[in-house]
Amino acid sequence: MPAWPESTLVPPTDVLAAPRQPQPSVTAPASAGIAVAGVAHTYVGQHGRVEALTPIDLRVPAGEFVALLGPSGCGKSTLLRIICGLLQPSRGSVWLASELPAAARKRRAVGWLAQEDGLLPWRTVLENVDLPRRLAHQGDPEAALALLRRVGLDGSARQYPHELSGGMRQRAALARALVAQPPFLLLDEPFAHLDELTRDRLGELLLELREESAVRPTTVLVTHSVGEAVRLADRVVVLSPRPGRLVLDVALDLAQPRAEHQPRFGALVQRLKRALRPAPTDELVPSHTAL
Ligand SMILES: Nc1ncnc2c1ncn2[C@@H]1O[C@H](COP(=O)(O)OP(=O)(O)O)[C@@H](O)[C@H]1O
Ligand SMILES: [Mg+2]
Repeated sequence: MPAWPESTLVPPTDVLAAPRQPQPSVTAPASAGIAVAGVAHTYVGQHGRVEALTPIDLRVPAGEFVALLGPSGCGKSTLLRIICGLLQPSRGSVWLASELPAAARKRRAVGWLAQEDGLLPWRTVLENVDLPRRLAHQGDPEAALALLRRVGLDGSARQYPHELSGGMRQRAALARALVAQPPFLLLDEPFAHLDELTRDRLGELLLELREESAVRPTTVLVTHSVGEAVRLADRVVVLSPRPGRLVLDVALDLAQPRAEHQPRFGALVQRLKRALRPAPTDELVPSHTAL
């Protein structure tokens, strides 16, 4: 049996040659999940133009967990902000099931979590976590407390964010992102500021909470940590250095829980690290290490 089942690896040429989606600016795709069609973005500012993304096509089926990996500045956050409807792309379009991102976000169908926890300092932890549910005018009033219990913060429900550690605040922010049971969950390096142990624990918690959701949210996690991507995701998509383009799309068929000492885990990490290296270094990789 080959060390690398063919079905788990989609070489870049295949990704780029993949048939383009039907033009979504005319009709929404029929399937649930996330559809990114021909999305490109150039920032135009006082200091000139910055081409952040070249046209990207990406489909994330409902319930799938995709990690978006790439070097710093390659356009990961730009793409995630476009998927979230926080930024209008220069070209192309995004659909969250049958809705445009801004509409999905407006009805609280998108859970968002970034490096900054975004908790409101004048509200208690419980009030912060409960806020999306209250704004959505739906859901179980007990859900916030139940989630706080689940992330180990029920003892801090009446505290204010400044009274918590960084890891505790991110746990509260994770609970807040999930409280309204959003079908879409978008995460931009949410654990990047945390120490390694806390980061690992929060990753596990994220997987557990997804499994416990009534409907497992379609998830995109931006990260620059190869280990985090391989530990958590169903599939990893790699972007090139700026302007970001899709260079690799790998399905990870490793059972959970995953551990770094598993041989296939290590092989996947090496494969992804090679894809992240600039081209000249890639050419120096001895062929016997290729998967
Ligand atoms: N508001 C902006 N105006 C101009 N350039 C920007 C803006 N936001 C990001 N960029 C540039 O776009 C590129 C991609 O940024 P970003 O998406 O934040 O990268 P990543 O998240 O992969 O680190 C970078 O070169 C960054 O400097
Ligand atoms: Mg970023």
